[in-house]
Amino acid sequence: MSRVLEGIEAGRLQPDFTLLATMVEYIAEMPDKLHHPKEDQIFALLRTKTHELDAQLDRLEAEHRDTVPATSRLDRALVSYVQGGAAAFGGFRDAVQTYIADEWVHLNTEEGAVLPAARRLFSPEEWQEINADFARNGDPWSGADNRYAELFKRIANLAPAPVGVGASGLDAT
Ligand SMILES: [Fe+2]
Repeated sequence: MSRVLEGIEAGRLQPDFTLLATMVEYIAEMPDKLHHPKEDQIFALLRTKTHELDAQLDRLEAEHRDTVPATSRLDRALVSYVQGGAAAFGGFRDAVQTYIADEWVHLNTEEGAVLPAARRLFSPEEWQEINADFARNGDPWSGADNRYAELFKRIANLAPAPVGVGASGLDAT
């Protein structure tokens, strides 16, 4: 999404609102509905083992609760862009950049602090239970009925190279 926005900003790409809307839909569907609830289970178990991470877990859980408002901020920014055209591009770009920056901080906390602690403190039986629970949803990247894989494929087909395999996005005129 960053690459596509950079292309639009540099004048290399024409905005493809179908592509942008599909990307926002993927973000809204995949992490919001499937990924975060699973992580919350790990956080809850971790709280029974240590209080060292309480402040970080409080923040991560609050961010999980904010995911639906966060993606609707992206939605609203995209609607403003569709309505306002080029003059409204900056608002959409800023909303996407803010979302991405926030996600990196969130992921880095999970991967750098939370998961190493879970690895240290959870028993093999507890991991088995967590793994079984994760497996119930099948491959999280594919989703039920392959929904997320299909969405992702649609994005790859719409996005111009080198991001995806779609047309160049350049105006022929
Ligand atoms: Fe998370």
